[in-house]
Amino acid sequence: MTTWALHTDLSLDEVNLHLAALEAAGLLGIAEQDGRATVHLTGRPADLPLNGRWVPVEPRDWNAAWKAGIAPVTVGAVTIVPPWLPAPAGAPVVLVVEPAQAFGTGHHETTTGCLAALQELALHRARVLDVGTGTGDLALAAARLGATAVVAVDTDPLAVATARGNAAANGVTLDVRLGSADAADGTFDVVLANLDTATLVGVAADLAARLAPRGTLVASGVGRERAADGRAALEALGLAVVVRPGREWVVLLGRHR
Ligand SMILES: C[S@@+](CC[C@H](N)C(=O)[O-])C[C@H]1O[C@@H](n2cnc3c(N)ncnc32)[C@H](O)[C@@H]1O
Repeated sequence: MTTWALHTDLSLDEVNLHLAALEAAGLLGIAEQDGRATVHLTGRPADLPLNGRWVPVEPRDWNAAWKAGIAPVTVGAVTIVPPWLPAPAGAPVVLVVEPAQAFGTGHHETTTGCLAALQELALHRARVLDVGTGTGDLALAAARLGATAVVAVDTDPLAVATARGNAAANGVTLDVRLGSADAADGTFDVVLANLDTATLVGVAADLAARLAPRGTLVASGVGRERAADGRAALEALGLAVVVRPGREWVVLLGRHR
């Protein structure tokens, strides 16, 4: 079956703002090259909230086109590469992550923001919980940066299987569980939560309960316009919150008062 590629002038982050509409329209994947996103769809819907150049894609071309748009991502010491690309020479921490569009390819600003914040924390011997682990990219990074115990949870069984596969492929031990923050036991020095705002607000109490007294919550998936909502939800639970704005998204850092 022929699929369609919509070549836009928008960045991946800008296109991601329309993710819900794209998914409803038969999204197959999004690739970015030179700062411009190409959206691959099963068809060519008339009412899409994006403009650009439509190109039909024969079935054989789709996989190669998508793969060609996936480049390694480096944040600080961590480089995430897809399995079909060589690791950049000299990269201190290389994670091979099979990209899964819905679960975190490592390219999204929310993921890079969490990766940057993670590397500012003392991870040696730390216990880390990753809520909404997706491909497991953040959990893998935490483990490779020195955390001794990493629990990764996700409510989607496909994400759980993907994260387990990526852990095995990288020779990293992750405790991957189906569920949310309440599927983990005990408390953690670092709690990662790259979710959307509504989900973050919904699970905020569980995240705070999993945070050790001197631990740090690193949360994202919150757009700049919703930063106040995310902050208020965490502050209501007694956390002191620092909001770190990115281009379109924020990272929220929370600590018990
Ligand atoms: C934006 S992805 C983040 C993936 C990865 N952590 C990253 O930063 O690249 C969000 C993930 O959260 C999962 N998720 C959604 N609601 C959740 C919840 N209430 N508890 C745990 N995981 C959830 C989704 O299945 C998805 O895999």
